[in-house]
Amino acid sequence: MASENYDLVITGGRIIDPALGFGSEGHIFVSDGKISKIDKDGPELQKEIAELPDTKKVDATGKLVVPGLVDIHVHLREPGNEYAETIESGCRAAAAGGFTSICCMPNTNPRIDNQETVQFVLDRARHADSRVYVVGSITKNGEGKQLAEIGELVKSGAVAITDDGYYVQNPEIMRRAMEYSIMFDIPVMEHAEDNYLCAGGVMNESYQSTRLGLKGAPAVAEEIAVERDISLARMTGARLHIQHVSAAGSVHAIRRAKEEGVKVTAEVTPHHLILTDEEIGKEFNTNLRVNPPLRTQVDRDAVIAGLVDGTIDCIACDHAPHLIEDKDSEFDKAPPGMIGMETSLALIKTYIIDKGYLGWADAIRKMTVNPARILNLPAGSLKQGEAADIAIIDPDMKWTVTVNDFQSLSQNSPYLGWDLVGRVTATIMGGRIVYQL
Ligand code: DOR
Repeated sequence: MASENYDLVITGGRIIDPALGFGSEGHIFVSDGKISKIDKDGPELQKEIAELPDTKKVDATGKLVVPGLVDIHVHLREPGNEYAETIESGCRAAAAGGFTSICCMPNTNPRIDNQETVQFVLDRARHADSRVYVVGSITKNGEGKQLAEIGELVKSGAVAITDDGYYVQNPEIMRRAMEYSIMFDIPVMEHAEDNYLCAGGVMNESYQSTRLGLKGAPAVAEEIAVERDISLARMTGARLHIQHVSAAGSVHAIRRAKEEGVKVTAEVTPHHLILTDEEIGKEFNTNLRVNPPLRTQVDRDAVIAGLVDGTIDCIACDHAPHLIEDKDSEFDKAPPGMIGMETSLALIKTYIIDKGYLGWADAIRKMTVNPARILNLPAGSLKQGEAADIAIIDPDMKWTVTVNDFQSLSQNSPYLGWDLVGRVTATIMGGRIVYQL
């Protein structure tokens, strides 16, 4: 064994790889940026590893070693709004959160609705600290009026399409988008919020919005949008992915559609799993303004149940950087969105794993292999021969979120000052250590 050449060995951690069904102590050997082998052996092997010359070692004793996390819903603001986030800074935030593969949304300026912009993003991401996959726009300029050149987007590297931020209001356009998506074997990702029902809404329409005197966006705006697109997916046979599910009715609709065999998948954000609209009235913290909005406890219970029973396939942050200067306004004037990659894993540990909703293996499944499969990404597993994309987690580390923990250029997080348990302590991408606490 000592004759083999390894670049990196991760020793002594508890390895969890839901894709391989692996969950025990072991050592991971990396060479040429790839997983060379995983070995379960005990103290003898430890001794041999200690004697390996010229090999970098990361001691993961007492830690969890999992496939690099995958987030299929991230906003990098480049091109156009580099003051809020660049591809480089967004990838540093990803690495700090344990993510080695992220998918960026097309609402940049110019928008990712053409070949040149896809290539620009992929070029800029080439040397970044996370792999970046591009999701192209469904319609030109995201205006919902005319389809983008979907074939060109796919040819230049786009892995899916979405008009995220807006619902494709015209069902005829959505139908055509789905038909094209089948030709190119990509999923259609949908921001499901009927634009008419949501017009002017800045929080969930509920007792809370009435109490606070803020215009509401009703849950039914999402439910109608989800139902319509499930109908179109049923008719066309397209793969439909519902983004940031927030409403109980959406969870029920997706569950029924899955039972029926419609090709629908879904994601939920940590904030819709953890927060409700009751938080808003406490301090009018504008970082709680998000689209779709934080909803009621009933909705929160439903998205958690959906995550647990598999109706919701994966967790995605919807990392949406905005400058504090822009968020420093009245609640209804603030742009919607919160950052999320640096806090995601710890929030899931503290509020989903520790509350008994999911075990580690299922939580990691929803942050690795499941999202990777939805978009056909070569990620989410520690299989021999695959890229050595790995996250190391201290499951018991207690920490308090401060701005110093953010690699993102933006700090619009509602979790500042929160005490969390569990933290990513190192991230490895292609055998390279891209983050170490
Ligand atoms: O809250 C949100 N912010 N939701 C979206 O869909 C878009 C995002 C953004 O780009 O800021």
